[in-house]
Formats: sequence, structure tokens, C-alpha cells
Amino acid sequence: MCPGVNRCRICASQLEPFISFGRMPVANGFLGSEEFADEFFFDLRAAFCERCALPQLLEAVAPERMFNERYPFFTSSSTRMVAHFGAFAAQVARDCLAARDPFVVEIGSNDGTLLQHFATSGVRRLGVEPSANVALCAEEKGVPSLRRFFTEGVAGEIVRDHGEADVILAANCFCHLHDLHDLAAGIRRLLKPRGLLVFEDPYLGDIVANAAYDQIYDEHMFYFCATGVARWLERHELELVDVAPQPVHGGSMRYSIGRRGVWPVAPSVQALLREEVRSGLHRPQTYDRFRGRVEESREALVALLRALKRDARRVVGYGATSKSTTVLNYCGITPDLIEFISDTTPLKQGKFSPGMHIPVRPHAQFESRYPDHAVLFAWNHAAEIMERESGFRRAGGKWIAYVPEVKVLD
Ligand code: TYD
Repeated sequence: MCPGVNRCRICASQLEPFISFGRMPVANGFLGSEEFADEFFFDLRAAFCERCALPQLLEAVAPERMFNERYPFFTSSSTRMVAHFGAFAAQVARDCLAARDPFVVEIGSNDGTLLQHFATSGVRRLGVEPSANVALCAEEKGVPSLRRFFTEGVAGEIVRDHGEADVILAANCFCHLHDLHDLAAGIRRLLKPRGLLVFEDPYLGDIVANAAYDQIYDEHMFYFCATGVARWLERHELELVDVAPQPVHGGSMRYSIGRRGVWPVAPSVQALLREEVRSGLHRPQTYDRFRGRVEESREALVALLRALKRDARRVVGYGATSKSTTVLNYCGITPDLIEFISDTTPLKQGKFSPGMHIPVRPHAQFESRYPDHAVLFAWNHAAEIMERESGFRRAGGKWIAYVPEVKVLD
């Protein structure tokens, strides 16, 4: 599909954007000062397809620009996420792997955090992960990782080399993929007749309810809800059979899918579809209201940071998340408003944030001289961070949150 033509990537309907963030860099493109001159920018705009109930980006950034041997996101950087994936694996092992010699495939397996948990249960496992550096990390944990983008062709190669899968898993990955028809065809090819696909992604209902506009960035091509997932998959004779909300990434949904008519459909599916109608996720007006809240949020955050600067307060960012790239660039927040961003990922430290070029520093720098205020860019990990950073609060430090609204936390 030509990125210049505003058409739905599922049904090819003409689309109008409901929000435009302007020129944006690659969200995870942390860079050195010698790279500033060549930094890549694109138009970050999202549109809603009423027919498919699917918000999506209009311009697609080439996958190789985002997912490569320098990909700086490691799932294991959050202890809560490691625990979350441990519980996910245990549930899959209990409910779905009764077959003899079971085979699990994960699409977008990152550093192997989810698949490592299947090590002890006699399960054959395979990760598919295009970012070579994180795939290497998975292999060091003993998780076999195919360094490829998942396509229908790759699904065929996996079937040829390993057989069909009992379970296909994906977490925070399907929203990254640009061709959902090819993805569905690959799943149909790879999955056993009675196999199950289980995937989770940030949930559109939570993004809208919380005006969490920072979930919109280059990697997130699609924003899923049960209605959108069901409509996409029914075109491919696949059926949504269960849904379960997950308290991660600011509110996620786990979707279970089988071939049509094979699995009973749990009551949770109808209940969520009804709730989505009630909350208007299928209506374009919902996304116009969302834009209004996002504009208000920008004004409030910029006003707060300017006021703190006038009062000579030291403000830093906490967590150089991909989400923060949208906030910083959309709000025009430069290093005179935020001194640096503290982050635990070695690959980001010593670099600068995409677009606004705020320095990223190790956590030790945050701890050794607490600022007056810290903007919580990793707000989706708030519970874990608040627990760890009680010293910051005791020293009089204050958190700034911007989801669901801009607020100094007391
Ligand atoms: P995350 O919010 O999971 O994702 P995304 O990049 O998709 O928006 O990113 C977490 C980032 O925050 C990652 O770079 C690690 C960093 N981080 C910290 O610096 N300290 C912490 O305590 C946690 C949980 C994360």
C-alpha cells in the first residue's frame, strides 16, 4: 500500500486523520550528537477506520529503521514485566499444552523473557525476532530465535523445519506489524487445526479513557480493541474466543484466537464487545474528543514545566521510553525544560532522546543528586518505580504525571 494514500490497511477505505502530531523521529532512535544532522523524521498522524473499528497510523516507517541490531528495548528491563510473563507462560503451559511434544512459537520474542519460562516443561519453543541484538540476548538464555520478520513465508519455513504450532504467542508485537492480512495468513499456516493464538497489546479502551496519546508512535501501527480484532480475523476464518484485561503497559488486553468454530467462545468476548459499543470505541466522534483532551494535556504540561523553570526548579525525566518521544516532540520540550532523562538501559545511556536531544543518563545520576521534580515517562511501570524510589520522595522530590492528566503527585 502506498503510504501517501490515506487508505485503511485492512479494507482500503478512504481515511481522514483524527490527530496529527507533526514531524516525529523514530521513537526508539536514541542517538549520538554526531548523528543529529542525519536524523530521520516522518509525519505522525493517526486515522480511524469506522468499518474495521481500527485506529492506525497513516505513514509507515520502514520496519528496518525501527527493528534492527541497535534496538534498545529489552523486555527484561522491568521486574514486573518479567513476573507478568512468568504468569502468562504458566497459564499457557497449564491450559494449552496437553499435546505430546508440544511446540510454542512466539512472534516478536525480544530478549526471550516469555519463552524462557517454558524451559522446564519439555516444550519445544521458537522465537521469531528481527532485532538481532535482543535476539542474541534470548539465545544467551537458551531460547532459539529466528532472526526474521514474521511473514506467511516464514510461517511456511517454520512448519517445514519444525512442524505446526500448538500455541502461537505474541506480546506487544502485533500492533507493530504493517500487513495484518499477511500476519493472519501466516498464523493460519503455522497453527495446528486445534491450536490457539494468544496475543496481548496495549488496549485501545485504556488509551482512549486515559488520553494516553504517548502510545501513538512509529512502532504502533495499529490500536486494538476486541471489535477491531474480531472484524480483522473473521476475514481469515479465525475467531476471537476469549479476552482478558492485563494490568501492564498502562492497560493491555489478551486475546485468544482459534480457527472458526473450533473453540467455544467465552462469555467475556460478548461482554467486552458490548462494553466497547457503550464506550463508543466504534465511533469517529470518540477520537475527535480524544484529540481535544490531548491538546489540553500538551498545554498543561508545557505550562507546568515553564513555571518550574521560572522558579529555578531542577526537572528531569524518568524512563527514556519510546512513549516519551511522542510527548517531548509534540510538546516541544527541550533540554532547557528537562535537564536529562534517567534510564537503566545501557544502550540508551550517553545518548540523546530522538528529536529533542535531551541527554539520557544512568540511574546513578538521578540518585546521586535528586532533582526537585521528575516527569514519569515510564508511567506504565509506576508501581514498581514508586516502590524503588521512596528515597526521592523522602528527599522532597515530586513526581509529575501526565496520564490520565497533568498532575504533580503529592
Ligand atoms: P517501557 O515503558 O516499558 O516501554 P516503551 O519504550 O515501549 O514506551 O520502557 C521502559 C523504559 O524505562 C526502559 O528504557 C527502561 C526504563 N526504566 C527505568 O529506567 N527504570 C525503571 O525502573 C523501569 C521499570 C524502566
